[in-house]
Amino acid sequence: MISKAVIPAAGLGTRFLPATKATPKEMLPVVDKPAIQYVVEEAVAAGLRDVLMVTGRNKRALEDHFDKNAELEDLLEKSGRHDLLAAIRHSSDLANMHYVRQGDPRGLGDAVLTAADHVGNEAFAVLLGDDLIDSRDPILPRMIEVHERFGGSVIALMEVANSEISRYGAAAISVTEDADVVRVNDLVEKPSAAEAPSNFAVLGRYLLAPEIFESLRTTKPGRGGEVQLTDAIQVLAKRADKGGPVHGVIFRGRRYDTGEKLSYLQSVVRMACEQSDLGPEFTEWLKTYISGNAVSK
Ligand code: UTP
Repeated sequence: MISKAVIPAAGLGTRFLPATKATPKEMLPVVDKPAIQYVVEEAVAAGLRDVLMVTGRNKRALEDHFDKNAELEDLLEKSGRHDLLAAIRHSSDLANMHYVRQGDPRGLGDAVLTAADHVGNEAFAVLLGDDLIDSRDPILPRMIEVHERFGGSVIALMEVANSEISRYGAAAISVTEDADVVRVNDLVEKPSAAEAPSNFAVLGRYLLAPEIFESLRTTKPGRGGEVQLTDAIQVLAKRADKGGPVHGVIFRGRRYDTGEKLSYLQSVVRMACEQSDLGPEFTEWLKTYISGNAVSK
């Protein structure tokens, strides 16, 4: 049974500087919650209540967000703001939060390796804080099912346009009898469109066998001088046991990429339009704005 989730949040977030000078990019708000809260909620909804966050510099904001804030609770209680009180209590009661420090941001693979002691000898999930999966289209439960059936490791994949594959890890796959499940035979990190083995891109959700740690320990820094998680999973993909085989679950639901400026803005707008309280008014304003009649408020 998988019960632990690891969420790496120790990257430098250079694409959002200067916003991320003193705040982790995972704390950037997506409408009214920091991006990372959606991800913790997704883990908990799939039954993973033990959450280990890998933090770097500026870890305070992350830890404080998931901790109790007695002073604020007191103030909201006294002023009768029970809706807001429930909202701030929700983030501190959500999961059993644990933290580990990644000294230097040496890459996603290195961040996952810092979880080895906490995880021990069991399979675990990794969720990236800048990939938000719509709660109406959950993928973790299906990945857990596939893991229970085949063992080994499971990654989430999505089909992207040929012109976009160089932004992702790409998988060489073979089909299985399930339309949404493939066997992953190889992985290439950020290939050119010509080199890509397929248009199936690695999305930020993984269920990894504990053998990944041994593979990460021997993984040399790859693209960009960083220890790539993809390179370590690729080793498992070649094995029939000891962490392999690696299967991919194909995700065709709604997802929001908050990892770079343009997709972050698109994600915020899409999610704002869908909120029941804010959505109708915001959508109306947006239509007016787009048609060139922006109001000044
Ligand atoms: P990204 O490459 O998207 O994040 O890593 P980044 O490095 O912070 O962003 P840029 O490229 O500088 O703008 C994917 C995830 O892995 C984490 C990041 O926090 C992000 O959630 N990460 C990355 C680590 O935890 N440690 C690292 O050394 C690198």
